[in-house]
Amino acid sequence: MCGIVGYIGTKNATDVLIDGLRKLEYRGYDSAGIAVVDSGKIAVRKAKGRLDDLEACMQKTGVPKGNCGIGHTRWATHGEPSDVNSHPHSCKRVTLVHNGIIENYIQLKEELVNDGYVFLSETDTETVAVMLEKLYKGDSIKAIDELCKKMRGSYALGIIFSDRPEEIYAIRKDSPLIVGLCEDESFIASDIPAVLKYTNRYYLIEENEIAVLNKSGVCVVDREGKKIEKSVFEAKWDIEAAEKGGYPHFMIKEINEEPKALKNTISPHIENGMPVIPVSELGDERLAALNKIHIVACGTAMHAGLIGKSAIEELARIPVEVSIASEFRYVNPIINKDDLVIIISQSGETADTLAALRLAKKSGAYTLAVVNVVGSSIAREADGAWFTWAGPEIAVASTKAFSVQCAIMYMLALRLSFAKGTLSEDEVKEKTAELMSIPDVVEKVIEQIDPACRELACQNFSTTDLFFIGRGMDYSLSVEGSLKLKEISYIHSEAYAAGELKHGTISLVTDGVPVVAIATQKPLFEKMISNIKEVKARGAMVTLVCRETAEVSNDVYDNIVKMPEISDLFMPLLLAAFIQLFAYYTSVERGCDVDKPRNLAKSVTVE
Ligand code: G6P
Repeated sequence: MCGIVGYIGTKNATDVLIDGLRKLEYRGYDSAGIAVVDSGKIAVRKAKGRLDDLEACMQKTGVPKGNCGIGHTRWATHGEPSDVNSHPHSCKRVTLVHNGIIENYIQLKEELVNDGYVFLSETDTETVAVMLEKLYKGDSIKAIDELCKKMRGSYALGIIFSDRPEEIYAIRKDSPLIVGLCEDESFIASDIPAVLKYTNRYYLIEENEIAVLNKSGVCVVDREGKKIEKSVFEAKWDIEAAEKGGYPHFMIKEINEEPKALKNTISPHIENGMPVIPVSELGDERLAALNKIHIVACGTAMHAGLIGKSAIEELARIPVEVSIASEFRYVNPIINKDDLVIIISQSGETADTLAALRLAKKSGAYTLAVVNVVGSSIAREADGAWFTWAGPEIAVASTKAFSVQCAIMYMLALRLSFAKGTLSEDEVKEKTAELMSIPDVVEKVIEQIDPACRELACQNFSTTDLFFIGRGMDYSLSVEGSLKLKEISYIHSEAYAAGELKHGTISLVTDGVPVVAIATQKPLFEKMISNIKEVKARGAMVTLVCRETAEVSNDVYDNIVKMPEISDLFMPLLLAAFIQLFAYYTSVERGCDVDKPRNLAKSVTVE
């Protein structure tokens, strides 16, 4: 989704803005632009395409020079990707960049057209610039306050007024925005990696707050202009964590970071061999009384929820419903105030997930956020937060964040089963000890299966369709594997519960169609082999993913990938590495933009 950067200080603003926007490229975008105060005038440069296109455009039209500016990467919502629809948008004295959607922009635009204003673009954002120009009578705070009263929807805005060339204004509602703090210079940004090179200290701007940045620092005021004392946050991420560190892509770097991320997420929550939930309201007594759990999320985070469902239902025997946030919101979900609602989100900013959280809170049920970004909207608004310590995840396709979300699901399932008495303390301790040993196993698996995944990618990269099949947790991993492949390699893929194949999908399996069959769950292995034989008999090219000890004759598969012996329960953490590496190498073979797949965004901050 759109990325915002703003800078005021002593450096060349154009360089800082382009550099910051590069760090936000992972959010997904299709055009970019900057506005820099150059010799007292606001110089705007914008271009459809990548940041390289913007830089090429500046080489032709002149690179603005100055110490104050705002920049933007746009992910088109209203109007196609084009130079004119790119941000910044200007109207006379006002120039601004925007992330979010102004829902009532048509009404606002009508009002402005009636007033005689002329529009150049198809965007909702231009309406904001024009409206602010209309409202601005010399008092910037008053004009912004009036603008906020008129706008409906979500927004993070970075604003420069031409008659206040040494100030940047920033406001937000339901779209992320931070203010980076440093001596002699200040920043605004959609996300921390944009400013990490310069500072790890920042303010989180809340709704109804206005940040005013100038050369002497940052002042945050309320809508009446009254100063607000803000607490300073410190990002624990260092700059290396947000760089590729010698890897060709962020995605492969992040897959390789899984063992460390798992250790960082698991170890702080194990005390005396038992998992401990870091939220005081969720003590054993309350857990024991739970009758129902809802897990709500989008995309890969929702798939981690599926693993959570299997683990919790199997171990603690509590019914779990997993919902896609954008569906949950509109089906009038039945939530009892004694239920637990778990919201999973890497970014903590996904618009539908945030809205689902707000809806769940109204039911009176306790809401627990499983989030990777401290200070994110979901982390702050949920009743309790359990953080995954994956570090920054930059590649759009989620990898290490998925693994650590699953790890939290396991710890929760184990604690629940202890509280419910479905497992004894010794049983919980035994499983917890195995969970703690998994990061080292994941490390070995990544190393061992890497060549096989490259080879598989070489065999399959030119296919147009590919099926994943599995049962139980293997099916959940199949769904995630299929998503991963679609996202970054653009190969059409479907995941099927292996037993369901013959109810329709098997008609698509003909000579040479690749089928990845995941068969690691012991009680389901024989049933899986029967299903594999069914596709093999119809000519499928089968890649079998199974345990190294599995006894299987070599006429059921064309390729085999073996997983070390661990319990069924934790197998998804090893399989995650397989499906991710397979998708990664396939994407590389096909020459795709692995980290920034077309049309996708990392942080989906619009509904
Ligand atoms: C987007 C990303 C996915 C992610 C999903 C949910 O679709 O491309 O990788 O799983 O959003 O994001 P969240 O930040 O809420 O986990």
